Amino acid sequence: MATVLITGAARGIGLALVTAYAERGDDVVATVRDPERLHELAAVIESHPGRIEVHRLEVTDPASIAALAARLAGRPLDVLINNAGVLGPARQSTLDMDFDGWLDTLRVNTLAPLAVTQALLPNLRLVEHAKVLTISSGMGSMSQQKSDSVAYRSSKAAVNKVMQCLATDLADEGIVVAVCHPGWVKTDMGGSGADISAEMSATGITRIVDRMSLSRAPVFHVWDGGVLPW
Ligand SMILES: NC(=O)c1ccc[n+]([C@@H]2O[C@H](COP(=O)([O-])OP(=O)(O)OC[C@H]3O[C@@H](n4cnc5c(N)ncnc54)[C@H](OP(=O)(O)O)[C@@H]3O)[C@@H](O)[C@H]2O)c1
Repeated sequence: MATVLITGAARGIGLALVTAYAERGDDVVATVRDPERLHELAAVIESHPGRIEVHRLEVTDPASIAALAARLAGRPLDVLINNAGVLGPARQSTLDMDFDGWLDTLRVNTLAPLAVTQALLPNLRLVEHAKVLTISSGMGSMSQQKSDSVAYRSSKAAVNKVMQCLATDLADEGIVVAVCHPGWVKTDMGGSGADISAEMSATGITRIVDRMSLSRAPVFHVWDGGVLPW
């Protein structure tokens, strides 16, 4: 039985990950922006008594991150999944960019996963071979030539690089770091026309986490077991 922390857990892939881990019998620390509005997460908590605890976390707010770290002090964490993410502003092409919106996107998708991981390192260090998986996107792969969604693509390309560096820096401590493309998923972000359900994506992601192993050359996983070029 592992303890798994998932950010952005009130809906979408985060909610499906909470459900998948709770159903496996793991303990889940689910972070949400507003614990007063749990929506579907409330039912998942009710059907898995004692398995899921909820904490408030706004991933772009250093005080919120520090408060979470303080509440979890001394608590071993086997897995951290940086899932919270945003698509970014309406105008995000190279020829028409909402620069403030781009900065907000970078704060959530790029800076926050590192800030959250840094704050929870004391918890990850309490177990042997803890794992940090950041939910990235194939849209951040340098091998894709499309030019839409520049804020989103650049934020995911950047977080990939950040996590590659973190993998190198934590390898000696035995902490495993990787990134993952969750598929094109039917969520508020992915839309109803997407390829797969959040449940399918979450099941695939739990398998990836199970298989993650220590390496100085981390992997850009795909939910179905494949691998993407950086
Ligand atoms: N869906 C896809 O097809 C797809 C494809 C590739 C990658 N991804 C990635 O997968 C991850 C999850 O996406 P999703 O499809 O589940 O998206 P979603 O349905 O839009 O859910 C996003 C989640 O992130 C949370 N979040 C956003 N900003 C936050 C902040 N500042 N602080 C804390 N939480 C915040 C949201 O919380 P609130 O409920 O409070 O807003 C929500 O729980 C994201 O990183 C996304 O980029 C998704």
